[in-house]
Amino acid sequence: MDAEREARLVEAATRYRANAVSKRSGFSVGAAVEDENGRIWGGCNVENSTYGLTVCAERVAIWKALSEGVRRFRAVAVVTGADEPTPPCGACRQILWEFAGDVPIVMANAAGRKKHFRLSELFPEPFDF
Ligand code: THU
Repeated sequence: MDAEREARLVEAATRYRANAVSKRSGFSVGAAVEDENGRIWGGCNVENSTYGLTVCAERVAIWKALSEGVRRFRAVAVVTGADEPTPPCGACRQILWEFAGDVPIVMANAAGRKKHFRLSELFPEPFDF
């Protein structure tokens, strides 16, 4: 992913992170997915009183795109406030694999530290049915 596209994606994920519904964990996450046309779809984590129904930022972002008819994706960004950039959880890796394929993922923290992976590095030997 070129630097300009990456910066736009991280900027969007950072913006969506501010909307996190995360008072239960205190851990706010923003995510953004870029579709095949360069349009960016953002999401934040949404927690509720049952805890177990929490939805991660990555899934919110991709559900938004899928529900608008988008089917092809080019890249993903995840932004947290952790000291180290944080990768998508296992459940989100499965969902991202199924709907976005082997996309580049940039993880960033609020201080601007970044890590880069392809999804296949984070999710080898996927369940692919
Ligand atoms: N979370 C995400 O939004 N994305 C991840 O990939 C990891 C975890 C959220 C879920 C929960 O609201 C909070 O972070 C703590 O687990």
